[in-house]
Amino acid sequence: MDATEPQSRHLGSAYDLKPGAHDKAITEVGRGTPGGEWMRRYWHPIALSSKVKDLPLAVRLLGEDLVLFRDRKGRVGLVHPRCCHRGTTLYYGRVEDEGIRCCYHGWLFDTEGRCLDMPCEPENGAQIRGNVRQPWYPVEERYGLVFAYMGPPDKKPVLPRWSNLESVTENEKLVATNGSIGAGGDATINVVPCNWLQDWENVMDPFHLPILHTAFSGVQFVPEFGIMPTVDWHYDPDGGMKYVAYRKLDDGREVDRVTYVHFPHVRIVPSTELAAGQAGGVGWVVPIDDTHFTLFSVSKFPKDFKPKRRERIPGKTWVEMNDEEHQRFPGDWEAQVGQGEISLHSEEHLAASDRGIRMLRRLMKEQIEIVQKGGDPQGVTFDPAKAVIEVRSGNFFRK
Ligand code: FES
Ligand SMILES: [Fe+2]
Repeated sequence: MDATEPQSRHLGSAYDLKPGAHDKAITEVGRGTPGGEWMRRYWHPIALSSKVKDLPLAVRLLGEDLVLFRDRKGRVGLVHPRCCHRGTTLYYGRVEDEGIRCCYHGWLFDTEGRCLDMPCEPENGAQIRGNVRQPWYPVEERYGLVFAYMGPPDKKPVLPRWSNLESVTENEKLVATNGSIGAGGDATINVVPCNWLQDWENVMDPFHLPILHTAFSGVQFVPEFGIMPTVDWHYDPDGGMKYVAYRKLDDGREVDRVTYVHFPHVRIVPSTELAAGQAGGVGWVVPIDDTHFTLFSVSKFPKDFKPKRRERIPGKTWVEMNDEEHQRFPGDWEAQVGQGEISLHSEEHLAASDRGIRMLRRLMKEQIEIVQKGGDPQGVTFDPAKAVIEVRSGNFFRK
């Protein structure tokens, strides 16, 4: 509903409240759903490369439970957990040189699901091994992350590269992280219990900076964010959309803060310390399922960089805060998880400052429809020469 419509239908009594509903197309990520099929046309970070070793990892992505492992030759495999023989989980499998071996009857699968050994069968299954294949998904490693592609095999796009991560000098390094700091949580917590869109569309909501992050809870980033910006939003001809938030600072300087989102869930947020210049990282808001997401990021840092303890209030990190402190000093986590498991879009009242949210949802629906009609959505390319996406987010000072 529009906030400008008169509320003549009732007097606002909660007694009259009807059950609300979420907008399924843009929130649900399961296989076969419109949004889920759209999501499955892109690559998704699924784990830090450094965590994928010879002990199988249980991972969940887009509502599917999977097993991730690295064989002893260094190749990464992502397979359906249920063994194609008689169904026990490969989570209890053993990683070997050539793949993962099921604990039950010892069938061995390579990283692409081919069966290489059936120790209980005549000739180790040489005659029948080729008839089975453990369901698998392609993976690629880049920037310290493992990316997975879960869509139709003939539609597998090129794994994108990001221009700001491609230019790393001798004195810099890339640091990959998985945690919830970027969603107002903590580096030690990597599952956020609400729908992914609540975090992703927040990136196109620059008006919560002066309120939530400054006036309401005290300065969570820099005091300059307390200045109410002049904002415009634009679709980008190269894909995704951006906002440009203009502020005149008290010292007379003028700055345009330019923030982008790219499909399906990439966010490129400039320095929250208002450091000048291009954003130094890329973030991904990855749906675990409809009601949980995780955040991955890769950022450029000086070579001697060490992560600092991030205190949300004096003396306490976010996980150390008690209930009352979370109430008195809320941040992104409290606001976004506070919208519920999946926000009830039918109950919203969008206003002028929500223009970016409207635009983003509209563009998502267009892209979902393109996929439903058999087309290729924005941000997908099959040409390796076009893999680099130019990063244009940043804090750009006019003088
Ligand atoms: S159930 Fe996996 S080998 Fe038998
Ligand atoms: Fe925020």
